[in-house]
Amino acid sequence: MQTQPVRLVEKTYIGSVVISVNPYRSLPIYSPEKVEDYRNRNFYELSPHIFALSDEAYRSLRDQDKDQCILITGESGAGKTEASKLVMSYVAAVCGKGAEVNQVKEQLLQSNPVLEAFGNAKTVRNDNSSRFGKYMDIEFDFKGDPLGGVISNYLLEKSRVVKQPRGERNFHVFYQLLSGASEELLNELKLERDFSRYNYLSLDSAKVNGVDDAANFRTVRNAMQIVGFMDHEVESVLEVVAAVLKLGNIEFKPESRVNGLDESKIKDKNELKEICELTGIDQSVLERAFSFRTVEAKQEKVSTTLNVAQAYYARDALAKNLYSRLFSWLVNRINESIKAQTKVRKKVMGVLDIYGFEIFEDNSFEQFIINYCNEKLQQIFIELTLKEEQEEYIREDIEWTHIEYFNNAIICDLIENNTNGILAMLDEECLRPGTVTDETFLEKLNQVCATHQHFESRMSKCSRFLNDTSLPHSCFRIQHYAGKVLYQVEGFVDKNNDLLYRDLSQAMWKAGHALIKSLFPEGNPAKINLKRPPTAGSQFKASVATLMKNLQTKNPNYIRCIKPNDKKAAHIFNEGLVCHQVRYLGLLENVRVRRAGYAFRQAYEPCLERYKMLCKQTWPHWKGPARAGVEVLFNELEIPVEEYSFGRSKIFIRNPRTLFKLEDLRKQRLEDLATLIQKIYRGWKCRTHFLLMRKSQIVIAAWYRRYAQQKRYQQIKSSTLVIQSYIRGWKARKILRELKHQKRCEEAATTIAAYWHGTQARRELKRLKEEARRKHAVAVIWAYWLGLKVRREYRKFFRANAGKKIYEFTLQRIVQKYFLEMKNKVPSLSPIDKNWPSRPYLFLDSTHKELKRIFHLWRCKKYRDQFTDQQKLIYEEKLEASELFKDKKALYPSSVGQPFQGPYLEINKNPKYKKLKDAIEEKIIIAEVVNKINRANGKSTSRIFLLTNNNLLLADQKSGQIKSEVPLVDVTKVSMSSQNDGFFAVHLKEGSEAASKGDFLFSSDHLIEMATKLYRTTLSQTKQKLSIEISDEFLVQFRQDKVCVKFIQGNQKNGSVPTCKRKNNRLLEVAVP
Ligand SMILES: Nc1ncnc2c1ncn2[C@@H]1O[C@H](COP(=O)(O)OP(=O)(O)OP(=O)(O)O)[C@@H](O)[C@H]1O
Ligand SMILES: [Mg+2]
Repeated sequence: MQTQPVRLVEKTYIGSVVISVNPYRSLPIYSPEKVEDYRNRNFYELSPHIFALSDEAYRSLRDQDKDQCILITGESGAGKTEASKLVMSYVAAVCGKGAEVNQVKEQLLQSNPVLEAFGNAKTVRNDNSSRFGKYMDIEFDFKGDPLGGVISNYLLEKSRVVKQPRGERNFHVFYQLLSGASEELLNELKLERDFSRYNYLSLDSAKVNGVDDAANFRTVRNAMQIVGFMDHEVESVLEVVAAVLKLGNIEFKPESRVNGLDESKIKDKNELKEICELTGIDQSVLERAFSFRTVEAKQEKVSTTLNVAQAYYARDALAKNLYSRLFSWLVNRINESIKAQTKVRKKVMGVLDIYGFEIFEDNSFEQFIINYCNEKLQQIFIELTLKEEQEEYIREDIEWTHIEYFNNAIICDLIENNTNGILAMLDEECLRPGTVTDETFLEKLNQVCATHQHFESRMSKCSRFLNDTSLPHSCFRIQHYAGKVLYQVEGFVDKNNDLLYRDLSQAMWKAGHALIKSLFPEGNPAKINLKRPPTAGSQFKASVATLMKNLQTKNPNYIRCIKPNDKKAAHIFNEGLVCHQVRYLGLLENVRVRRAGYAFRQAYEPCLERYKMLCKQTWPHWKGPARAGVEVLFNELEIPVEEYSFGRSKIFIRNPRTLFKLEDLRKQRLEDLATLIQKIYRGWKCRTHFLLMRKSQIVIAAWYRRYAQQKRYQQIKSSTLVIQSYIRGWKARKILRELKHQKRCEEAATTIAAYWHGTQARRELKRLKEEARRKHAVAVIWAYWLGLKVRREYRKFFRANAGKKIYEFTLQRIVQKYFLEMKNKVPSLSPIDKNWPSRPYLFLDSTHKELKRIFHLWRCKKYRDQFTDQQKLIYEEKLEASELFKDKKALYPSSVGQPFQGPYLEINKNPKYKKLKDAIEEKIIIAEVVNKINRANGKSTSRIFLLTNNNLLLADQKSGQIKSEVPLVDVTKVSMSSQNDGFFAVHLKEGSEAASKGDFLFSSDHLIEMATKLYRTTLSQTKQKLSIEISDEFLVQFRQDKVCVKFIQGNQKNGSVPTCKRKNNRLLEVAVP
């Protein structure tokens, strides 16, 4: 530290705390080359640098999986914001690359200009002073690539919107907008470029040296686009900014009312009109909101008028609220753009850049809040670096002499104590019924905090300050860790209440401007909440508490910024100022603790786990307790004993260099191990590959061999088969040849034998024949000779009869032979079989015919013998018919085949003829329908012809009624033609009763049968033969006339049906086809 002031620009370390002095000029130590220099280098290896700390934090996060936070502290203008940007740019430069990652990085980095434009302002201490607290969590994946981020903002100093102390400016964005916007945009926003037109912009320091607002406006718009703001969103944001600016121009005038009270009225409504046009608010609504205030109590609405001061208050409250809510909306909108898209586990690096400790001429509620926050950060620093570290040495039994330091916990308690802290008092005062003013609040403070050693006030009972003229009555003073600050109590209550009249929030909610509407959700009448919103102080306290909790869960890295002078000038080193900062920041104690203490500590288990690969005994596994392992490890590595101490549960390493040595050894060893693993893996991979190849090769070879062998086997097999078949064929042919030869030999022998036998046989036959012939000849000759001799001897006795006898004998023999042969030749027994064997000898001709006739008669008899009596009767009838008509009547042959049935009409069975049947008692021989020829005209009518044993009856065919009855004795003759027709006449005995009408002339298909049956019946009944005349012309008696019935041939008129026609009195002509 002694040398530091001289070099100014440099940074230094206390342990791992980077002390950064603001150079107030740009230095060549933040170039990309420097980034590369610091990348992956050990902390103490290069000169102290923010990059070294950033690198350390980033590597711990990436390699050791520890969430990090970088706490940047220092008073206003010390360079915190710049340092935070350097940290972010370094991390962005060293972490992974790629289109997506680069976009994330770019969005994270570009969120800074946007937030600075809206949240930073020129103060007397800093031209770019952060007027809000910012904590940004940058999220990384396991590889260390950024995924996104989350920004938390803390209490914006919104009072600046409406009023700025002398020498200070409003937020940058107002100036940037008026300087940088095009004429067109200004017209759209109804703004003018001239700063002096706007009451909210202080005039004395509107321009800042070295700052180009116009260029910055372009940068901000560009950044907004990169972050992801849509054009319409940017437009809305600028409209809100314009509306805030214009709100400041609304002025009020008093107007006396009847009740004597003053009521405020807007002086010039033009500005109001333009605001309403810009924001889409109904002018009358806004105007009314500036003139009246509605208080709602117990569901009763009471409207009171506002006086001029109240109207101004309302106007400023609206402007402040509008702006601060816009700022919060911006932070949320940026968060929406930069939030991590994946849900994978994230590692977090938090960067805290909060407004620095401030002491102004007039310090108000905002400074109180800002300084409280710094007080808390100092507390956490003290807790972790001084208190906790020293306590740890004692806890771990490390030899330690306590180093005194100032613990600011007492100041924090003064402010935040829930029962009697200043914030609690302020809240209590704000919520108290009755008249509450800043003075009553101060009074309360004087009562409650009077005895606190860090609280000072004129009114306190402590006599020390009664005569302190530097302490005005309306103020209280707090001895902060960084110095005494005098706070003007004026405005504390109002600012803490942060009251916005409901009429205004409702007017805003009614705006047509979507963004403004969304900023005032409480203005929605449907969601009226009568509960008081939490006060600004309590909100801030709660959010600071959350922040502290969050920081404690992470591994802290400190950058402590020092301001070299109060003039914002380079090359000036105000030793007094710097020493003051060094003192209050507790850096000296920090140095002392560091010097006496140890740079690094770690529990034995993780230490052994991390470094066990450096020693053979501990690698790969240490069986004993971890501490013993670490001891063995450190002995083995020959680390000097003074470099480390063994605590109860941790090893303490004094010098960072020792740690770096260990880390370097580890890195080298890891590389070796990696090479070893790589080697083994490669060996394993190659071997596995080789084994796989070998196995595959064996499989392929086996399959190939199998295939080749199969193929060879198939070839051998087919060759063998061919050879085998050839050999077999050859053998077979050989055998066949032999067999053939053998057979031929046998056949030859047989043939020869046969021939020989044949020859022999023929010769024998010939001989036998010859012999037989000779014998026969001899016998014949002998017989002839014997005959001759006998004849000669007996000639004299037999000469007269011998010839006759021989002839008879021979004839007898021949006849005998004929009959014997005929026995076998006789034809079948069928009487119709016409076959008969031919005649063998002419002289037997008559015999042969006679024999044929006898045979035929015999077989006819045989045939007849088989007949039953019935059949016999039928055949007798047939025979009778044959005798009567054969060769006489041409119709006869067609009747031979027809069986004679007699009663064709089954009178018995037909109920129609029941009467007829009943009338006839005798047996019916014929019952048949015939055509009776009308004697007069030759036409025919159907009649039933019935023949019984004694009578011939004619009946009506339909009714069955008997028409005529003729006893058979009265029938004398039947006449018919010789032709092929069915006409016949029944002649009746002259004089008989039946003959009165004359003879009957009929036609029937069964003429032959009927005539035959009539003949037979008459014969059997009368014992007289009925005369049957067959002639083509015969006479019939019709009554008294004799009519000639003449049959002529050849009339084809009616086809095959004969027709009958009465020609004249004497002639009835029947045409037969
Ligand atoms: N490393 C640096 N190099 C060059 N100039 C610097 C550096 N750090 C700070 N400055 C200068 O100092 C000014 C103030 O720095 P910065 O805004 O970072 O202060 P701060 O600590 O954030 O203050 P506040 O608490 O008011 O926000 C910057 O505007 C810049 O001009
Ligand atoms: Mg800052």
